[in-house]
Amino acid sequence: MGTRRRRVSVIRSRSKPVKWDDLRMEFISECTADTISNAAQALKDGHLVAFPTETVYGLGADATNERAVSRIYSVKGRPSDHPLIVHISSTNKLEDWATEIPDYAIKLAREFWPGPMTLILPRTELAKDFITGGQNNVGLRVPAQPIALALLQKFEEFGGQGVAAPSANRFGAVSPTSAEAVINELGNHFEKNDLVLDGSRCLVGIESTIIDCTKFSPKVIRPGALTEEMIENFLGDNFLDNKNLSEIRASGILEKHYAPKTKIIIGQTAKPGTGFIALADYPTPPGAIRLIAPNNSYEFAQNLYQAFREADRMKLSAVSVVLPTGNGIETAIRDRIIKSSKH
Ligand code: TXA
Ligand code: MG
Repeated sequence: MGTRRRRVSVIRSRSKPVKWDDLRMEFISECTADTISNAAQALKDGHLVAFPTETVYGLGADATNERAVSRIYSVKGRPSDHPLIVHISSTNKLEDWATEIPDYAIKLAREFWPGPMTLILPRTELAKDFITGGQNNVGLRVPAQPIALALLQKFEEFGGQGVAAPSANRFGAVSPTSAEAVINELGNHFEKNDLVLDGSRCLVGIESTIIDCTKFSPKVIRPGALTEEMIENFLGDNFLDNKNLSEIRASGILEKHYAPKTKIIIGQTAKPGTGFIALADYPTPPGAIRLIAPNNSYEFAQNLYQAFREADRMKLSAVSVVLPTGNGIETAIRDRIIKSSKH
């Protein structure tokens, strides 16, 4: 108990206080053991709790409570047949939600959880149609962010079994990487007892790597910070199935997704007065507005969505983005930028 209290109480938001007077939900910027306990109780009571993860902010609900989960869909404006990821506190909970788990999936879970990885596995009875969108598979993740983990542990202490959490944005829009962005996305859709936990900026900045583990070999169906190379280095070469297209549906795999209102153009030129996003070594075209100049690909991922939001806030007509090269996290960055450019 002592350890947990100490661990949680040092988690304080470093983000600036923000004014959102007309908001109905409560905004918690100091995540102490008490606030996390209240948030876990709010989840148990069927309310929504937006919380930070290392990838992006999630909009959480008790994954066994159909009414609470249905509110996720209405707050996001998401079609009800799109499945949700269930967040659990440790690999030990895997078998509550998943069955027929291949050895490679157990290995991946032991190696990369907590972390930015979601495994798609055959579901148990616990994963109802309202979580899986009627599919026989369920998506599971153990996040690495300390507030998220503390919340999940507390929720489970209170008898909860898992927290369904999509990214805390309106359907098709850019995932939030700060509590402020969550409020801007969903503030008008929350209800009185819903909560937003502020854990400052997300470390990774783009959504988790999703791995389809329902077949003989695993297949990455959404690239993320956990790269194919890392998976192959761990499981062995040629282990990944990167030939056949997965039949599994994932909304992030729709052609257009993650899109800001501002038009995203891929390329090195930018007209004066339009936005520009590229690694620091690319000079800003004359008259263009530099939104970010990350020093490496990790910084690129971390700040990309914030830059998209900034473009919207500035009401820019367009933003030109230079795609990073490389087959690590760059694959995921390119995936998100290309999708956001499909208007
Ligand atoms: O990093 C993340 O994964 C974040 C944080 C909050 O954990 N969550 C997230 O959730 O990105 P969401 O719902 O915005 O994107 C999850 C994707 C969706 O495209 C969904 O369709 C897919 O995962 N997915 C979830 N469960 C699935 C399942 N059983 N089968 C196939 N796809 C699934
Ligand atoms: Mg999403």
